[in-house]
Amino acid sequence: MGGTFEIRLMGDPVLRQRAAEITDIDGRVARMVDDMLPAMYEAEGIGLAAPQVGIQRRLFIFDLYEGDGPQTLINPEIVESEGEWTYTEGCLSVPGLTFDIVRPKEVHIVGRDLDGNEVSIEADELLARLFQHELDHLDGVLLVDHLERAERKEALRDWRVQLAQLQSGTNGPAESGPVPLVGRNAAAD
Ligand code: CO
Repeated sequence: MGGTFEIRLMGDPVLRQRAAEITDIDGRVARMVDDMLPAMYEAEGIGLAAPQVGIQRRLFIFDLYEGDGPQTLINPEIVESEGEWTYTEGCLSVPGLTFDIVRPKEVHIVGRDLDGNEVSIEADELLARLFQHELDHLDGVLLVDHLERAERKEALRDWRVQLAQLQSGTNGPAESGPVPLVGRNAAAD
């Protein structure tokens, strides 16, 4: 294990709860992030929210692999959003499945970093999508919640099959490896 967290999968109740605000940005938060980073990188994800490793705190980490290294957002809030953008989203907690989801194209997010400093980021397209997706995790919302009713039913059916395969250790041949929020390769394409 080496201190690395295991990523929780859809169906785990921890993914359906609202995470609590972080009141003290201290060494414990920094250690939590240190443990979350390998989990995100091993899965080749571009974002990981604390509830995905079973921690009910309002924090997520992200890295678009553009050379800036990982960043942390604590108690994030979207204060403004604009436009509309369709993107094929995946989730480390729903590996193997992706869905075309429409969300605002641009968002303005505010929060704190690991030093407790205020952070304010205006993001577009992929980064904006990442923020909205990770913030959803802090509110117990998963990407399938953004689908139309019929599509959602089908998604949940597909997920039951996928989950059974994952749990029996025989991941389907067509989709090896997990599909992160947005695949690292897909993000680069
Ligand atoms: Co996710």
